Amino acid sequence: MTARAATVAFQGIEAVPVDVQAQFLNGQVNFHIVGLGDKAISESKERVRAALHAIGLGLPGKRLIVNLSPADLPKEGSHYDLPIAMAILSALGVIPPDFLSRYLVLGELSLDGTLLPVSGVLPAAMTAVAQDLGMICPKLSGREAAWAGEKLDILAPENLVQLINHVKGTQVLSRPTAHLAVLDQKLPDLNEIKGQEAAKRALEVAAAGGHHMLMVGPPGAGKSMLAQRMPSILPPLDPREMLDVSMIASLSGELKDGQLTKRRPFRAPHHSASMPALVGGGIRPKPGEMALAHHGVLFLDELPEFQPRVLEALRQPMETGEALVARANYHVTYPSRFQLIAAMNPCKCGLAGEPGHTCRLGLRCATDYQSRISGPLLDRMDIQLELPAVRATDLSLPAPKESSADIARRVASARNIQALRFSVLGLDHLRTNAQADGEVLDTIAPLDTAGMALLRDAAEAMNLSARGYHRVLRVARSIADLAGSDHIMRLHLAEALSYRQRPASMRLAA
Ligand SMILES: Nc1ncnc2c1ncn2[C@@H]1O[C@H](COP(=O)(O)OP(=O)(O)OP(=O)(O)O)[C@@H](O)[C@H]1O
Ligand SMILES: [Mg+2]
Repeated sequence: MTARAATVAFQGIEAVPVDVQAQFLNGQVNFHIVGLGDKAISESKERVRAALHAIGLGLPGKRLIVNLSPADLPKEGSHYDLPIAMAILSALGVIPPDFLSRYLVLGELSLDGTLLPVSGVLPAAMTAVAQDLGMICPKLSGREAAWAGEKLDILAPENLVQLINHVKGTQVLSRPTAHLAVLDQKLPDLNEIKGQEAAKRALEVAAAGGHHMLMVGPPGAGKSMLAQRMPSILPPLDPREMLDVSMIASLSGELKDGQLTKRRPFRAPHHSASMPALVGGGIRPKPGEMALAHHGVLFLDELPEFQPRVLEALRQPMETGEALVARANYHVTYPSRFQLIAAMNPCKCGLAGEPGHTCRLGLRCATDYQSRISGPLLDRMDIQLELPAVRATDLSLPAPKESSADIARRVASARNIQALRFSVLGLDHLRTNAQADGEVLDTIAPLDTAGMALLRDAAEAMNLSARGYHRVLRVARSIADLAGSDHIMRLHLAEALSYRQRPASMRLAA
């Protein structure tokens, strides 16, 4: 008789159903796992054998075959331990088959039968709900599964014995409950930054519409400081966004204690980050920093120091909101609608363009440094901003009165206006002006004749690309939303155009 347990394999953020089949046959005594499993799965048989032995169950002297079906789907990870063990327990008659057929099973086993948490429990639990199944997972993953819905039947035992006792009715496992993470850690506040008023305003506009932003300035101007304060002015995630973000965090094993958070992701990978670290993939398909920044901010400090290939890989997701990982044997996409905030010095020595400064290498210092960033990548930066050095007089000023909370209120109200506008148009999948494209952009950002003339003249004078033209329109829409204005006025357009102007220190090297 073939015993079965249902589990999943992960493809991108999707959990694809996998059927684990176990059968004892007559013949040479051995234990085989077939069905395109990776190394973790082939090692699984040792963990399963030891865990069963630890609870007093030896495998009979027969040939044991475990098949992971569909056999042509590559399978990775240690979460197959528990479904394999359950299918074997069912084949041994310890667990009734009709019990197991009601659950989707996921979990890693340690040698003593304890269940260890695994990644991807949330997407798997969503699949369980879609298939009208319950879920069996390790205790430490139970809270995460509970987010899939109140109706989901969840068994989250600490070890194999608890699970078997539950099946036999000698011990009842209680259902875990979903918890939101407590946000007690205070975020750095924008009121710690003195001067740099133009930069703070630009940060507010970027936050309001979800626009990409590049800051250029000398060392110590406060670029990193400003970027790190972005999370303090962004609105919290709405429930749907929270689930999207958490699915990716779950796959990366980054959901702490299975608690979800309303805080927008802020990812700041180091400039030595490799291609798989940023885009995702590698030997095992895993979400990269771009996906982990979905619905949040991807902060790339010292932009020109990143590998050129890595920077070019940003280009497509910045437009489409998806990162595609294509390898010889797999092909997955991760949702990656992030807002890019980048910071850089204008040249290697950091001071090009500063009054009275001449680089030791002359103009080459800036040209060489800036040429590491391609034109198409620069073209995608909606807001390009030059930060002047902070003067000592600025630093001796009292702290600004306006705090992040004040700015966050304005940003939230601008975002509400956008969400409402999209929902009236029946475009509920869109959230921010940065996501509006083509006809939608024409509908939400119409210009009057004077505005049209201003944009046309500026586009010619500034040599704007078609993309640049549309990006200016989106930023202008956000500025008008911040001002609570239905119409885009010339004033809003002029501010948007000023952000599009290449910073003076960048023009030096052009
Ligand atoms: N506007 C400011 N108000 C108060 N302190 C500031 C300001 N700008 C810079 N500082 C101080 O200078 C330090 C360095 O700032 P920050 O790291 O943001 O500079 P940066 O522009 O990122 O420099 P680099 O180009 O070298 O990375 C901060 O930790 C802070 O102490
Ligand atoms: Mg810095």
